[in-house]
Amino acid sequence: MKHIRDVYLDYSATTPLDKRVLDAMMPYLTDVYGNTSSTHRHGRKAEDAVEMARQKIAKIFNCKPSEIIFTSGGTESDNLAIRGSAWYAQKMGMGKNHLITTPVEHSAVGRTIGQLADFLGFTSTILPVDEYAMVDVEEFANACTDKTIIASVIYSNNEVGTIAPLPKLAEQARERGVLLHTDAVQAAGQLSLDVEVLGVDMMSISAHKFYGPKGVGALYLREGVNIIPSNTGGSHEEGHRPGTLNTAGIVGMAEALALAYEEQAYHLGHYRKLRDMLVDGILSRIPDSRLTGHPQERLPSHASFVFADIETNQLLMHLDMKGISASGASACKTGNPEPSSVLLAMGFSRAEAGGSLRLTVGRYTTEEDVAYAIDTLVEVVEKLRKLRRANEVHAK
Ligand SMILES: Cc1ncc(COP(=O)(O)O)c(C=O)c1O
Repeated sequence: MKHIRDVYLDYSATTPLDKRVLDAMMPYLTDVYGNTSSTHRHGRKAEDAVEMARQKIAKIFNCKPSEIIFTSGGTESDNLAIRGSAWYAQKMGMGKNHLITTPVEHSAVGRTIGQLADFLGFTSTILPVDEYAMVDVEEFANACTDKTIIASVIYSNNEVGTIAPLPKLAEQARERGVLLHTDAVQAAGQLSLDVEVLGVDMMSISAHKFYGPKGVGALYLREGVNIIPSNTGGSHEEGHRPGTLNTAGIVGMAEALALAYEEQAYHLGHYRKLRDMLVDGILSRIPDSRLTGHPQERLPSHASFVFADIETNQLLMHLDMKGISASGASACKTGNPEPSSVLLAMGFSRAEAGGSLRLTVGRYTTEEDVAYAIDTLVEVVEKLRKLRRANEVHAK
């Protein structure tokens, strides 16, 4: 078989496990196998490791270790924050039933709020966003009423990379007695997670987005904020999240996060350089191409585009045949022929949104990879457009 290059440009979907993280995890996959809830020596060893990990993460979040809840990932953290605070307000008869979010959230937030509003007696406001997927602070403030329990706004958008003005939103939310949750799954490892600077009450992260293992995440829950657990079971994690703790995963997540912030300046420089190469190369060489998301206020590793007269799934297939792994809008949407609802909310037409591409770089991406990806994309887009024109002529 002909050798093709393997160019992975989908680091927003997931990242490979850093070998140093695997080394940190290994003892907890083998020798230290105790259940953190057991009182004997095996349990205590595992519990010590989990508590060390909690402290490491708390340092990065600038919060107390007791404000961190370990979960199975971003989806669970989002569900726990939103469902948990909504149910608490309902149970306590606080006279509040309103939820706020945006149309550009990950489905773990969007569908959770949708379900609460559709079946469970809550109301919701989906704020508009501008052409860059940015929420307007004044509109956010106006949407907060005395009935609002929680607002959930994504930190850095998974499809278009735009970074939300969280400190400004938090100021408005706090003045109005509204809890602010953010899905920081894409931001973690690149942007500041200091909850005092961000001003958020709850924040979700997922280890596999920052070179940690899959299936483990965390929720920051500000002291004094109450939630009802979305799962029922044991009294782990201060009663917030039942289930035996994933010791190795938690140790790995803490190590991965610590490494990401120790090496932050170095990695971000690398990402920005490669991302800018992608953006400049693609926009200058491919006619009728547009960058999606904010040109400056965007995740350093993230480039996203729409191409006129291109169909995303065809584009991804042809890129894959050339060894390039990319996404349409987000990994969750790949294979779904419906245009991205995020791009539609940003004002793109269905036809424009139908030709989207997300290229996200990472630690192991090289300049050669990027140059190859640009050349290949130029070639593939031209070929697909030619084919489309030929089909159109044929159909007449
Ligand atoms: C913004 C965002 N939130 C949540 C998730 C879900 O995280 P997990 O895969 O850990 O459930 C993802 C994953 O793609 C994401 O990008």
